This record gives sequence, structure tokens and C-alpha cells, in this order.
Amino acid sequence: MVNIGNIWQYLALQSPLQSLSGDQLNATKMAVTTYTLPQLPYAYDALEPYISSQIMELHHSKHHQAYVTNLNKALESHLAAVAGTDIAGQIALQQAIKFNGGGHINHSLFWQNLAPAGSEEASPSAAKELVSAIEKTWGDFEAFKKAFSAALLGIQGSGWGWLVKDGPQGGLRIVTTKDQDPVVGGEVPVFGVDMWEHAYYLQYLNGKAAYVDNIWNVINWKTAEDRFLGSREDAFSVLKAAL
Ligand SMILES: [Fe+2]
Repeated sequence: MVNIGNIWQYLALQSPLQSLSGDQLNATKMAVTTYTLPQLPYAYDALEPYISSQIMELHHSKHHQAYVTNLNKALESHLAAVAGTDIAGQIALQQAIKFNGGGHINHSLFWQNLAPAGSEEASPSAAKELVSAIEKTWGDFEAFKKAFSAALLGIQGSGWGWLVKDGPQGGLRIVTTKDQDPVVGGEVPVFGVDMWEHAYYLQYLNGKAAYVDNIWNVINWKTAEDRFLGSREDAFSVLKAAL
């Protein structure tokens, strides 16, 4: 069954050509859910001075909200296309579901992997196991930060940088995704950084490198540790809370 209430699973499947039996179709209809904007776990000004209150408010209440609104519209249209056995219609909606569903997933993960500078969560000491694995992989913590920052600055156009864990016992890797493509290959997203201009331009203008330098002050290492020690399902539980 294609459970389109579970958007990351849907994006991973990308299977518009499956034919559904009547019972499966009814079950699919019942599984469709409306997604909602998750609340931020802190105030809009909590990440000052590194990310301005203005950026946070626009980013969350306008940009992320738009992804949620457009995802719901696309899923509703997709449901109608499935019900009408309209394969062409289903295929035509793939990109809208991928883009807006990815936007919802990525931002939901991003808000939770940020924390006010100076808080306990914003210190790498809140991620002892993860830091140890980082040191094993990259030699030392500063080398990892350098490699991650270089990956962020190497993104052409809009996209995201992620530290991921390859499955339950897997190693760590730095990956980048284009536009709003989410990490859907089975990896656990430990933390991500939004490299769209809307994430920094109002404050940093063309100073992308300064944004990247400063993002390290507001990474939530407690969340990163929890995701590193947990499963992919645990990391994506934030989406279920925001249904
Ligand atoms: Fe964004």
C-alpha cells in the first residue's frame, strides 16, 4: 500500500505506477493526512545574534508554511488522481510532492537541530558519542567542521548540507541535497543546514561564508546526539508530531 500520509516513505517509494485494489485504495484514502506547521522549540529571536529574528519569523511562518500548504494541495490532487486512475495526473504531481514534501521534512528537522547560542544543547559536549564518532571519521572535530563548512559552501544554487549516519550501525558521512530534496535513502539525518538564500540573505547579504561560520554557534548537539544514537524513525518523529 502507498501510505501517502507518511510523506518521507512516499518520497522514498516514488511509485506512481502501482495499481491499487479497491480495498487498498480505500485504505489509502483513510491514510491521507493534512500536514501542519510545527511550532518552533524556541522564540523567533532565540538564535540572535547569529540568525536574526526577522529571518526566523519569515523562514518559519512564511517559507515553511508555504511548503506545508502546497504539500497538502498536491496530496489532495494526487488522491483525486489515484481515485480516478489518472496515471498522467499522478506523474504530473510528483515534482510538487517531492519539492514541498521535502521542504516540510527538511525544515522540520532543521528547526529542531538548532538551539540558542550558549545553551547546554549548543555545546558539542552534549554529544559525547557523536563527537567521538566524528573524531574517528575525520581525525578531529575541527577537521570535520572544516569539511562540513566546505561542503555547504560548495553547494551551487539552493540546497542543504547534512551529516548523516548510514543505517543503524553505519558510519558518518557529509552529504548535500539540491533544492528541497530530503535525505530519503535510509540514512539517519543527524543535523542539516539550510543553504537557501532565504536562510541568511536578509542578515548576511552575499556573506555566505559568515553565515556558515556562525551556524556552528547554534547547532543543537543534544538533538544531533539523540539522532545519532537513534533510528531513522526516531529522527522523523518530528513529522508525525506536526501532522
Ligand atoms: Fe529554508
